[in-house]
Order: sequence, then structure tokens, then C-alpha cells
Amino acid sequence: MQDALPTHLGTPVVPTIINFNHPEAPEQFAQSLHQTGFAIVSVANGELGIYQSQIAAARDENIAFLDKPFSEKFPSLFLNDPYKDGGWFPLGAEGKTGGESNLLEYLHHRANRRGVDFQGHSFENTWHLFKGMQRLNDKLTSWLIQAMPKDNSALPTMHRLSTQMDGSMRSTIRFLKYYPHHPLKPEVLPAFDETGKVRLWNDPHEDGGWLTLIPMQSKPGLQLMDTQGNWYNVPWVDEKDRDPTRIMVVVNAGDILSAASGGKFALCLSKKREDGTVDKLHDPLTFEGHRDASGPLHMWRDGFYYQNRRLRLIKQGYYPSTTHRVVAGTEVRTSMPFFFHLNGWAEIGDGWVAYDKMRGYVRNKEAQREQALATMYAANGIQPPS
Ligand SMILES: [Fe+2]
Repeated sequence: MQDALPTHLGTPVVPTIINFNHPEAPEQFAQSLHQTGFAIVSVANGELGIYQSQIAAARDENIAFLDKPFSEKFPSLFLNDPYKDGGWFPLGAEGKTGGESNLLEYLHHRANRRGVDFQGHSFENTWHLFKGMQRLNDKLTSWLIQAMPKDNSALPTMHRLSTQMDGSMRSTIRFLKYYPHHPLKPEVLPAFDETGKVRLWNDPHEDGGWLTLIPMQSKPGLQLMDTQGNWYNVPWVDEKDRDPTRIMVVVNAGDILSAASGGKFALCLSKKREDGTVDKLHDPLTFEGHRDASGPLHMWRDGFYYQNRRLRLIKQGYYPSTTHRVVAGTEVRTSMPFFFHLNGWAEIGDGWVAYDKMRGYVRNKEAQREQALATMYAANGIQPPS
């Protein structure tokens, strides 16, 4: 496979790709997640009902929706409701830091099928593909359990939780479209920002759930970090040069999987004062963690319910969560991650019970939605309705 990342990224390091159909694949896959912190598998076309043609068709039907004019997409705008929050997330809606390089819009399809009406637009292929990805998630999960040392104390938790994805009603399909420049400004943004840093479409982060499977990326840019802190470019070949008999799927471990396999979450109860100093609350649950969980989770411990608290994974489990980022390119890029989540409440060890809520960056708060809308109007050059 060739690697087509821009030269400014330096010498690309290409990770090993695991052949899903090899007899030793279960062990190789689990070892890759355990030791390297990520895994890339190559699945035979048609395996578990996953087809190249369906991936292409799913991509096309999502692109067709995003290509519609603003006014036709607007009725499908994401809703401010924890159970009906699928829909269209316009350019600027994410509202997180990243400034001008944060140029992406996306669609969320929730597995519970509740939520936004896509105005009759069909996503039939996307849902067929989801079924195949679900089978792959279940298979890979069984491999992870099989490969754990028999004396690992987290094994019963892994066993118990693996059955809590049946139906995967909280799982999510995201279809992302990244832009090389602002739609109203034709200049492609430079490869480096004003501080000299490589411009990113997604800052380094970890996903919050169990496994994330990414079977399709239209352009290079995705990078994975190993447990030593080295970045790897996900191999990429142009669609016309791809092997039609194989499908490459990037597999990222999420924070919940890491916690379930022996990791530890902690609440971050410190808060910032207006003058910028940090006020640490003297709570027995206050810890200094080394990284933030990627999204708010609902947690329960010792009789207390913690809603939308900032959580930190202070100790990685046997399968550490995968740090990844997306380097900005000069052309439009699309990608389709499938996020697999546990169903409802789950005991994840050390007395913690989690409701894997997977709401991501846009919280269930009217003010934040209003803020997101204002940013979105500005980003799209539209006058907000009065
Ligand atoms: Fe991610």
C-alpha cells in the first residue's frame, strides 16, 4: 500500500495490517490493541455480510444528503433531546476550539432510530452496513475476551459487558465531511497554523465508547498514536487502486473498553475561577488524571449520581483507549466511523457504574445549542432568524 500523506508530515510510519481471515487473527488483533494501542484489520469482501459496494453506496447516500442546499438540510438539524439527538450537525455546530481549521459537518444516525426525520432521504445502505459492522464488533469483542490472560481480574467484567451490546441501541453512525477551506473563503488553509503546528481537522482525542470501527475514508489524514506516543499514518490508497477483495477497517478502543478491561475513571471536580486560577474541591473523588475522557458520561458511585461530569481515565486497562487525530488536507475528505456503545447502565469496575451516553461535544443544554446555532449561522454566512 502506498501512503499518500502530505510530505510536511515527515516520514510516514505504516502500521501492520491484520488479516481478519488468518487463523491467528484473534490473537494478533488482541495483541495489537493491547501492545500498540490500536489495530487495523483487513476483512475479505463479503465477510460477515460486509461488502465494498455497500460501503460505497452508504457513502454516496450520505454525501447526497450533505450536498443538499442549506434550507433543505435545516429541518434535519440535530435536536436538543438526549433520546432524539441524531441529525445534521452543520459546519460550526461542534463549537469546540480549533478555530478556522475546525471545518467539518456531519450526520448522526442513532441505532435506536429515534430522532430527526431526514425528510424522506433514504439511508438504506448505511443501515445494512451498520448490521455488518455490528457483527464485526461482536466478533472482535469475543477475540478481545479470548485473548486476555485467564488470571486478569477484569475478565468477568469484560464477559458481562460484552453481552450488553446486544442490539447496540445506543450505538451511532457518524458520517463526516471535512473541508479544506471555509465555504465562503476559497483559499485552502495552510498546512501549518500561525504557531507553526500542523493544522488538524480533529485534535488528538480518545473515543468514549467500546470500539469504533472505521471502514471508509475518502482521503488520508487519520493518524493513530501508539502506547509510546508515536504517531502512525493510517495507510491509504486511492479508491481506483484499491484491492476489490479486501476491506480495511480501522479499530479504535474507547474509554469504556479501557475501563472495563481494568482501567480506572475518576471525576474531575476542580473548577476554574473567573480569574483563571483553579479551585480544587476537596472531595475524596478529586484526582489529577493524565487525560480527559472524550465526552461527558453519566456515572454512579457510592450512592451519588454524576451527570455530565468531566471524567478522566486515570489508569488505562488491558486494552488502552486509542488516541487519534485527523490532519487537515487540501481536498474535501469524508469518513464514516461506527461507534459501538454499551446498552444502558453498566458496572465497569471499582464501584463505578456508567451510562455510556455518547453525546459527544454538543451537550444537552439549550444555551450550548443556541451558541452552536449562532456559530453555525456565522460559519455559513446566514442571517439568524429574528
Ligand atoms: Fe474519534
